[in-house]
Amino acid sequence: MKNLMDCMAEELSAAFERAGYDPSYGKVSVSNRPDLCEFQCNGAMAGAKKYKKAPFLIAGEVVACIPEKSVFSSAEVVKPGFINLKISEEFLSKYLEEMSADEKLSVSTAQKPETIIIDYGGPNVAKPLHVGHLRSAIIGESLKRIGRFMGHKVIGDVHLGDWGLQMGLIITELRKRKPELVYFDDDYSGEYPKEPPFTISELEEIYPCASARSKEDEDYRQEALLATHLLQQGKPGYMALWNHIMEVSVTDLKRNYDNLQVSFDLWKKESDAQPYIPDMVERMKEQGFAHEDQGALVVDVSEEGDTKEIPPCMLLKSDGASLYTTTDLATIVERMRLFSPDEILYVVDKRQEMHFTQVFRCARKTGLVGENTRLSFLGFGTMNGKDGKPFKTREGGVMRLENLIAEINGEMFRKIVENRSVKEKDAGETAKIVGLSAIKYGDLSNQATKDYVFDVDRFTSFEGNTGPYILYTIVRIKSILNRYTQEGGDPEEGRILPAVNESEKSLMLQLTGFGGAVETAFEEKAPHRLCAFIYEVSNAFNRFYHETKILSEEDRARQSSYIRLLVLTRKVLETGIDLLGFSAPEKM
Ligand code: ARG
Repeated sequence: MKNLMDCMAEELSAAFERAGYDPSYGKVSVSNRPDLCEFQCNGAMAGAKKYKKAPFLIAGEVVACIPEKSVFSSAEVVKPGFINLKISEEFLSKYLEEMSADEKLSVSTAQKPETIIIDYGGPNVAKPLHVGHLRSAIIGESLKRIGRFMGHKVIGDVHLGDWGLQMGLIITELRKRKPELVYFDDDYSGEYPKEPPFTISELEEIYPCASARSKEDEDYRQEALLATHLLQQGKPGYMALWNHIMEVSVTDLKRNYDNLQVSFDLWKKESDAQPYIPDMVERMKEQGFAHEDQGALVVDVSEEGDTKEIPPCMLLKSDGASLYTTTDLATIVERMRLFSPDEILYVVDKRQEMHFTQVFRCARKTGLVGENTRLSFLGFGTMNGKDGKPFKTREGGVMRLENLIAEINGEMFRKIVENRSVKEKDAGETAKIVGLSAIKYGDLSNQATKDYVFDVDRFTSFEGNTGPYILYTIVRIKSILNRYTQEGGDPEEGRILPAVNESEKSLMLQLTGFGGAVETAFEEKAPHRLCAFIYEVSNAFNRFYHETKILSEEDRARQSSYIRLLVLTRKVLETGIDLLGFSAPEKM
């Protein structure tokens, strides 16, 4: 389905051509004087130089060539040569009817669908999820949904951190606490127990304890490093423990992500890339890309014109151990082999930008990816508390994701019960749905790359640019539609008629922007663009609602036209929030 802006540009281009000018001057933009007109065309100004003619004259000739019945209800020339445009109410209502019938609601889907891998989430096994992982999950999930809606094949990969020092730390601490476990018996050759020797809460207590000890006790740290090394060499008892850690952690992670309505197609791990490392390193050596530097193996990735120093990309440490960069490079090898993607997009904290610059450059230089694969990095900013510092608990500790969600849901519950529109027994469920909108919308409505302040009071408010406000608007529409059906009306009947007042027309105009908003959000990897659109539509709807008697309208055709407009507004808003990763309750 054609975009409304294009429909207008086409009509105007034809007029330019009929008047004897280049049709490319017929571009239309949203008016920057909304008090005077809805849209404008500055083409006559641009053409004045080429045709050596006053823009006012050109504009006049063009306007004279716009047919009587057109996309526009008015086209006016104003000095020095702008064309002020208003869209025809008839055309607009027909356009919205077409949009209602279109399952993609006017979003133009990809001509050439691409395979896009999104690397997001990135939790570390055995460490509790904290708010730092929240942003990656929220932004990545939204981009995945938007990409799919646009018709691409999008593969979401959680890329678990399962291979680093944290594993050695846990093994070491466990060994201190329960040395009698068979996993630590080097002479043991039987089968290892099926049941893990710890629960998730024990595991979550073990890691911080081990991590703290390793910072104070150098011997302890050395032990953990050795354990990590032995694990990576495949020592059977440690591998068995690693499997237990994985099992217990992944179950817990999945539960957490389910609560966030975040899901992954792939649960790949850093360790899955290990088998690709030896070959990859060997080839980089053979082809002369990798060389030794103070015992370590590195690839130079600095380029002419760099304004800051880009240090070499390290492949192997002097003791032969691989690093975060090595794993990420080998993961690229694996992804290319399994999926030959057109793009790999990493949604990771922007403080890791240098790491990805090195990895991307190295992957390109050494030919791990060809020209047809884009490697992109969406680095997001930090979620801060009201004090402008990274979000912490009241006691100053790292805020666990579960606790943050519980806090928001508690606040939502209080407000919902206060509102008395939902039965107390349903308030818990509703609070969860609305709470999720508060968290996700609060995050996504900010430009991803910027830091933002997580303000519980503001995010949970039913007023202003918030998730709960958007949901409140949707619930309002649902309740009008329910009443209409209860009174015997059929929301599928009738059609959208030309607008009769300003607030109705303005809602209609807003709705036509859906296609553009989704497309821009996708192209710019910017869900906040979609949020801004959804907020504008909600405002336009609420204004229309306050100025219009819908259920008491006596003219039947007019009433069903309003209802059709409500149905479309609900569809646009619900599809929009689904692309952001949350949904609306029936009541709130
Ligand atoms: N686990 C990492 C962290 O917590 C994030 C992983 C991001 N993805 C990647 N391919 N490096 O910092």
